[in-house]
Amino acid sequence: MMSHHLFLKKEIDPTHLQNSSLEKNLTAFHLTAMGVGAVVGAGIFITPGIIAAKYAGPGAMLSYLLAAVVCALAALCYSEFASTIPLAGSAYTYVYTIFGELAAWVLGWALISEYLFAVSSVAVSWSAYFQNLLAGFNLHLPGFLSTAYESGNGGGVNLIAGLITLLIGLLLVNGVKESTRVNTIMVGVKLAVILLFLGVAIFYVKPANFHPFLPYGSSGILSGAALAFYAYIGFDAVSTASEEVINPQKAMPIGIIASLAIASILYAAVATVLVGVVPYHQLNVGDPVAFTLNLINQNWIAGIISLGAVAGMTTVLLVMSYGGTRLIFAISRDGLLPATLSKVSPSKHVPVTNTFIFTSIASLCAMLVPLDKIAELVNIGTLFAFATVSLGVVFLRKLPNYQQLPKGFNVPLYPFIPLLSFTLCLVLMTQLQKITWLVFLLWTLVGLGIYFSYGYRHSQQRVLN
Ligand code: ALA
Repeated sequence: MMSHHLFLKKEIDPTHLQNSSLEKNLTAFHLTAMGVGAVVGAGIFITPGIIAAKYAGPGAMLSYLLAAVVCALAALCYSEFASTIPLAGSAYTYVYTIFGELAAWVLGWALISEYLFAVSSVAVSWSAYFQNLLAGFNLHLPGFLSTAYESGNGGGVNLIAGLITLLIGLLLVNGVKESTRVNTIMVGVKLAVILLFLGVAIFYVKPANFHPFLPYGSSGILSGAALAFYAYIGFDAVSTASEEVINPQKAMPIGIIASLAIASILYAAVATVLVGVVPYHQLNVGDPVAFTLNLINQNWIAGIISLGAVAGMTTVLLVMSYGGTRLIFAISRDGLLPATLSKVSPSKHVPVTNTFIFTSIASLCAMLVPLDKIAELVNIGTLFAFATVSLGVVFLRKLPNYQQLPKGFNVPLYPFIPLLSFTLCLVLMTQLQKITWLVFLLWTLVGLGIYFSYGYRHSQQRVLN
């Protein structure tokens, strides 16, 4: 094996950027709706209570803002790539053109873990909120079917989490236009319930609850940010839609940055109102938003919010499944995964087999693995991808054919911002648990095994060279 083959780079043919087998019908508005759809979900309906109670105290909004800064810097880097190289595959494709095949595969494999585990973990939260709603009607699943097995919890499989994931797969198979329409409606519902929460709860804020502001010291902000980061995951899924966008040079940066801005404002507002209403140490609960409303005797609004949370998490499932399947599509088109995964159905214009396989695996994980075991894994894979993309921008502008590529969005203060983004992603990675690092390492080793036994031999770039 010639080691330089591992660093073969994808040539970007500017004419290829116009010829894609995927249908082009998405605009900046769709992309923003898609971004908010992918981002605002379990992270805001579940984690802010834990961040306030265990890490940052009433200063929880600072953890959200710090995580937002890290994401915003990475978003700028993503935008430059997504508008300059609008090909399906997102970060994976960018890294292929900049650092070569092996790095692209390692990153692509990490991103598969991000999308797959994000879908599974959000499906588990979806199931919890949905079962809460059913309980409101006195409907209960037998314990064995209500949650994944953990020693002593009486669980077995999380049936609802598995079913919702498969349902999302069915929806995606019916075409991108239909899926984006459903997404746009659900995003509206999600924003409405969050605003409803803020509008009602703000009248119960007690300034005394903000003291002491940082009971765990300023280091709590950083540990909180590593967890808050989960809530922002998903805006990068917007960039996986590049080949299906009408005017990607303009629409991509708008879509990515607008969705991140909307999410940051909502999160900081929700975190501030939560700790203002309930003393932070009481917030260590799985459903802090509903919990707070129950505490102030707004039970019927709590019910509406739970319904909104279910709608909200449905869009996360939809967009993250979409992103995952398009990523696998791109990897397979390059020959690094079997070709059947990039076959597009002539009537539906979507990769049907790929969607079926992706959602089935996500569904299995959602049924069998408890939520807390998967959430940090999503973070580590994503931070790794953001760090690599940030570094990649530094090299993108040095590509020999950079001048011939479409002129898109440029990261300001180059190379300072890409390098800062890279460093901050690494800092957040250091905040994750040892076990998360170990599992991530194991995942990467499995990926390398697949690459050397399959991808290396079937790579299209190698055929071309
Ligand atoms: N950002 C996504 C969520 O909060 C994963 O649900």
